[in-house]
Amino acid sequence: MARNKIALIGAGMIGGTLAHLAAMKEMGDVVLFDIAEGMPAGKALDLSQAAPVDGFDVNLKGTSNYADIAGADVIIVTAGVPRKPGMSRDDLLGINLKVMGAVGAGIKQHAPDAFVICITNPLDAMVWALREYSGLPAEKVVGMAGVLDSARFRHFLAQEFDVSVEDVTAFVLGGHGDTMVPVLEYSTVAGIPVPDLIKMGWSTQEKMDAIVQRTRSGGGEIVQLLGNGSAYYAPATSAIMMAESYLKDKRRVLPAAANLTGQYGVNNLYVGVPVVIGANGVEKIVEIELNAEAQKNFDVSVDAVKELLEACKAIDSNLP
Ligand code: APR
Repeated sequence: MARNKIALIGAGMIGGTLAHLAAMKEMGDVVLFDIAEGMPAGKALDLSQAAPVDGFDVNLKGTSNYADIAGADVIIVTAGVPRKPGMSRDDLLGINLKVMGAVGAGIKQHAPDAFVICITNPLDAMVWALREYSGLPAEKVVGMAGVLDSARFRHFLAQEFDVSVEDVTAFVLGGHGDTMVPVLEYSTVAGIPVPDLIKMGWSTQEKMDAIVQRTRSGGGEIVQLLGNGSAYYAPATSAIMMAESYLKDKRRVLPAAANLTGQYGVNNLYVGVPVVIGANGVEKIVEIELNAEAQKNFDVSVDAVKELLEACKAIDSNLP
């Protein structure tokens, strides 16, 4: 049986980490695409030379030619520029929108059957634009943000409760930005909701509020510390989990930026909601009932995404 093929568009910090993880997990052959000359081939060669030591049998290829992504089963897009200290994700909009135009055209021509996971920021607007430019069905194009945001939330909660991260589940909705909506009622330790844990004296509402705030600005905290670029280990790990759910038809229930068609009262807009990812891509959008406060915060988040889409349309009048 032929191996799966994973194409990574953008071979920078996240792209290189994705290639390493995909190869170590033997998810399939890996193509690293980047406009930077030589760099993707250099990373592919470096990783290939790790293979004999670690014992993974996959082919890695670096390229600047879109024809090499032909037949890809999964494409993960990180092409663009990352944030610098002081920049918001939205500041990247103009530059990265043009990049999505080029990437969408490349996918449309060479790999229209792929499942596409977008990571480029500002995420909810870029995944929407990539869907438009690529012309792929909406269930085959998703944005990676919720798995990362909820992983950050889980990490902070596990530290606060002093329990294993494995036993902490967390629920994050909305756009990937300062308006994201971590929902405490649906976040648990081994099934016990966080509000119950507060009643049990495990923590306080004030501490939870601080964790919610730290989760919202979790990416910015790392941008500040790194001084040059943005997070890459956790974003790459999160996208790999989504790719695996598709390739193995695991039907995992994961938060992701998906195209809403009426769910949550929203139409034709990508925003973070729980989805089921299986062999057909986004198999289902899970519509939960939100309490008044979560609904209010979700609406604020949706409005922020709408503003970004308007900004995209002002830059490119071909966008609907
Ligand atoms: N086509 C392909 N690759 C491109 C293009 C393009 N049109 N434009 C830029 N690139 C490449 C750059 O050459 C670079 O190697 O995208 C890569 C981006 O890598 P990094 O700068 O290392 O950025 P990274 O940390 O990987 O983040 C990528 O993900 O989380 C988001 O905000 C982040 O938008 C950023 C993206």
